Amino acid sequence: MKKKVLCLLMAAACAASLSACGGGASETTAAAAPDATTAEGNTAAKAEDTTAAEEEKADAAEGKQLIMATNAEFPPYEYHDSSMTGPDGSDIVGIDAEIAGAIAENLGMELVIEDIAFDSIIPELQSGKADIGAAGMTVTEDRLVNVDFSDTYATAVQVIIVTEGSEIAGPDDLAEKIIGVQQGTTGDIYASDDFGDENVDRYPKGVDAVQALLQGKVDAVIIDNEPAKVFVSENEGLKLLDAAYAEEEYAIAVKKGNTELLDQINGALAELKESGALDEIVAKYISAE
Ligand code: ARG
Repeated sequence: MKKKVLCLLMAAACAASLSACGGGASETTAAAAPDATTAEGNTAAKAEDTTAAEEEKADAAEGKQLIMATNAEFPPYEYHDSSMTGPDGSDIVGIDAEIAGAIAENLGMELVIEDIAFDSIIPELQSGKADIGAAGMTVTEDRLVNVDFSDTYATAVQVIIVTEGSEIAGPDDLAEKIIGVQQGTTGDIYASDDFGDENVDRYPKGVDAVQALLQGKVDAVIIDNEPAKVFVSENEGLKLLDAAYAEEEYAIAVKKGNTELLDQINGALAELKESGALDEIVAKYISAE
């Protein structure tokens, strides 16, 4: 309902001024209101509708929990920080935690974050123990067989971390080397496919793979770019290779066939993108270079 109203308003603004559609600047839209009476009428109608829709939503969801399964070992998307309080009151913070908090708020639900092994997230959704998986989770064909994904909210790159003196300069040099990964991640899947199972060492957390690299147990780590940057900045003697390994997109996972929740998430995500709130969350955790 809320979404529909927003679309209608946008359509009206666009019809009034074509340039408003392209630019999307808020002043343009405001100035383009065709006549004050209509604009006011619309606003009043919108307010009424919005309140009614929100009450309806809140009533239906009242007291309901939105259980988010994640693996909080993946800064800046989800990690433990005892100096901060996450959206569910725990010390789990990060981009995904805040996005899920905003979605729960939008749906009038209470967010509960469960920190589990990354490769347990999909089974938890399938068994109904968790409602959403928000874990910097990449959309892949294989995962789409077992869960549904929301619209994407971030792009990511799989990158290679090596020690400073390493002779490895790009993906081609990884043949016959031992690659450390977080178990069950796309880094694991790609590395195993490309270089063979026997050349991949799997760890429960990404940071464990990074420790193994520092200890000389593996020759390189393949992991998502944002946590990679954090791990390299926190540990001396490591560097990130320029050559990207693979590009991918993050989305929120739900139980296969749960279209009602999926639609609600997509509606909330669209609002967060539209209002700039999503960008604000990202900017809080990732400083622009
Ligand atoms: N993007 C990668 C994947 O989907 C890694 C995600 C790991 N996330 C985490 N919270 N540990 O496989």
